[in-house]
Amino acid sequence: MATPDDTTTHYADLTENGLREMCNAYARAIRHREIDLGRWHYAIGVAHGVRTAIHCGVNRFSIVEFGVWQGNGLLELCKIAEYWMRRTGVEIRVYGVDSAVGLPPLVGYMDHPELWHTGAFKLPDPAILRAKLPPFAKLLIDDVADAMPELEREFTDAPLAFSSFDVDLYSSTQRALQVLNMPANCYLPVVPATFDDSDSCLSHSAWCGEAAAVREFNEVSILRKIDPKPTFDLRKFYACQIFDHPIRQGAARSRWPLTLGVM
Ligand SMILES: C[S@@+](CC[C@H](N)C(=O)[O-])C[C@H]1O[C@@H](n2cnc3c(N)ncnc32)[C@H](O)[C@@H]1O
Repeated sequence: MATPDDTTTHYADLTENGLREMCNAYARAIRHREIDLGRWHYAIGVAHGVRTAIHCGVNRFSIVEFGVWQGNGLLELCKIAEYWMRRTGVEIRVYGVDSAVGLPPLVGYMDHPELWHTGAFKLPDPAILRAKLPPFAKLLIDDVADAMPELEREFTDAPLAFSSFDVDLYSSTQRALQVLNMPANCYLPVVPATFDDSDSCLSHSAWCGEAAAVREFNEVSILRKIDPKPTFDLRKFYACQIFDHPIRQGAARSRWPLTLGVM
C-alpha cells in the first residue's frame, strides 16, 4: 500500500475527495510520527493552506515566518513546502523576516519583560542561513513592519496561504500583523496562522504579548479577523478571515466549496 509520503497527484487532477484523503492521511502520518517535517503546527498548518489554495484553484502561493532567529522554523517550512510541491505540483514561495539583531527594546509590561529581554534571539549570521535555503525561499533582513512593501509585491503574485507569527513581543506582533492590511487579492479567503507565544506560559494572557496584539487587531479591523481554532486539535493554531476576499463576498467561486475542517 502506498504511504502518504509516496503518492503524488497533480493539483489539476485532484478531486475534492482525493485531496481530503491525501490531507487526512498526511496529518495522521504527521501525528503518528510516520512523517517528520518538524513542528506539527507548521506541518499541519501549512497543509491547511495548501488544501485551501487547491480548493480555490490557486496553484502558486506564499508562506511566511515572522521571527526567524537561527532558522530552524524557516528550514522546516522549506521542507514542508518542498514536500507539497513534490506531491501536488503547486508552487510555494517561502519567506522569513527578521531584523537579525534580536528582540528590539521592550516597551512595557505588554512586551512581557518577565520573559524576554532586548537583544535575545539574535540571528547569528544571515549569510550562513541564506546559504542553507532552497531557491524558492527568501530571508528578508528588516524590521517586520518595514518588510511589508516587499511582501505585498510578492503576495500580489503569489497570495499568502500561511503565516507564522513568532516575534514574541506585543509590540513586534502588532507590527507584524500589518501583513493583514494588504489588498484582498494578496490572500487566500482564509489564511491559517500560528502564534507561537500566546498561551504556553502562566503569565500569557489576552492583555499582553501576541494575544493582546491579536485582540487589538480584531478591535480595529472590520473585514479581517483572527481567532484561535481550538477544535482543530493543533496548538498555537489560528485562522485569519479575509471577509473582503472576492470568494467571501460571493463575487468569485472557489473550485469546490470551502468546507475545510480538521485534518
Ligand atoms: C523566538 S525567535 C524566533 C524563533 C524561530 N521562529 C524558530 O522557530 O526558531 C524571535 C525572533 O524575532 C525577531 N524579532 C522580534 N521582533 C522583531 C521585529 N520587530 N522585527 C524583526 N524581527 C523581530 C528576533 O530577532 C528573533 O530572532
